[in-house]
Amino acid sequence: MYKPFETTDTTKAEPIILGIETSCDETAAAVIKGRKILSDEIASSATIQAEFGGVVPEIASRVHTDEIARVVERAVKNAGITYQDIDAVAVTYGAGLLGALLVGVSFAKAFAFSLGKPLIAVNHIRGHLAAAYLDCPTLQPPFVTLLASGGHTAVLYAKSEGEFEILGATLDDAAGEAFDKVARVLGLKYPGGPNIERCALEGEANVPMPKMLKGGGGYNFSYSGLKTAVINYCHTKDQKGETYSKADVACSFQRAAVDVLVEKTVAAALEKGVDTVTAGGGVAANGYLRRSLQEACDQNGLRLVLPEKRYCTDNAAMIASEGLVQFRLGNFANMDLTAKASIPLAATLETVQSRAKRCDHD
Ligand code: KG4
Ligand code: ZN
Repeated sequence: MYKPFETTDTTKAEPIILGIETSCDETAAAVIKGRKILSDEIASSATIQAEFGGVVPEIASRVHTDEIARVVERAVKNAGITYQDIDAVAVTYGAGLLGALLVGVSFAKAFAFSLGKPLIAVNHIRGHLAAAYLDCPTLQPPFVTLLASGGHTAVLYAKSEGEFEILGATLDDAAGEAFDKVARVLGLKYPGGPNIERCALEGEANVPMPKMLKGGGGYNFSYSGLKTAVINYCHTKDQKGETYSKADVACSFQRAAVDVLVEKTVAAALEKGVDTVTAGGGVAANGYLRRSLQEACDQNGLRLVLPEKRYCTDNAAMIASEGLVQFRLGNFANMDLTAKASIPLAATLETVQSRAKRCDHD
């Protein structure tokens, strides 16, 4: 019977965790020791996907199947450890593309089973939130964190490593989704966010954009109005046969989309009385956001812990980092672990109690 977690010492000072991530188009594996990254490997199908204008799930799954064994092998080799040194295998089980997730989950189960190591089921979004611990190994809650990814946008209060409170969230589109949709309207290639950022460098924020619930809506966000405003602006110009600067539209959109995130995150931190702010998710890789959030934190005497850009977008080190949180809580998975395409934000962030060394992971 597979029950290595029953004898696992969850108080070990610096456990070695292998993280595996295959929720979208990145096949990633990383090894951490405590909160230190020993290796971090990634193989992406993004360039193949770009030809199709977005992620084709079937292609993502095939590339994961091709790459996963090589990527994991490289991660272990480059960490300078042996397979037996690994204390636990942490894998993303959701949310994401089902077929893509199943490749990682199936591989991780077989890998953990064959080595007789415990398995940890990691929620992808909690991985994004745990990336901050790698940037600052001494970081301890409480803090306020901005989550801005392709599927979620929220301001959260981290009470402990395993407990979050939602202070506000998007009422419609996520910030990353808005970046991607606006990129498509402007004829920019997938992935939209980085291409908008690049295009915006050449422009000025002189195109009028709608108000973004500034000061209103508590800490909630709404991105659908902003997206529609950009679509209408471009279509009206096209219909009238007038030209417009894509760079100016990108710059104006980026400013409107980011300023509200920065403003609400800092306001939430001040209201909660914390001294630290963190951020995670792909949109936190945006240069304008990073500069603005840093300035706003500096002006308000707040410390900003911002993961390096590569740890804001999808990676396996963040999965290992959340794996460590779950390891300490004694939340391990069984061999019946399966993948979940969607997990509501509230369920993602619900209080995680130690569950007698057996994770129900849903
Ligand atoms: O967190 P992530 O890698 O995947 C999940 O959704 O979990 O986020 C991807 C999102 C995409 O919408 C992408 O366009 C956006 O993050 N993104 C960016 C940047 N890099 C990635 N948005 C704005 N600026 C960027 N530099
Ligand atoms: Zn992600």
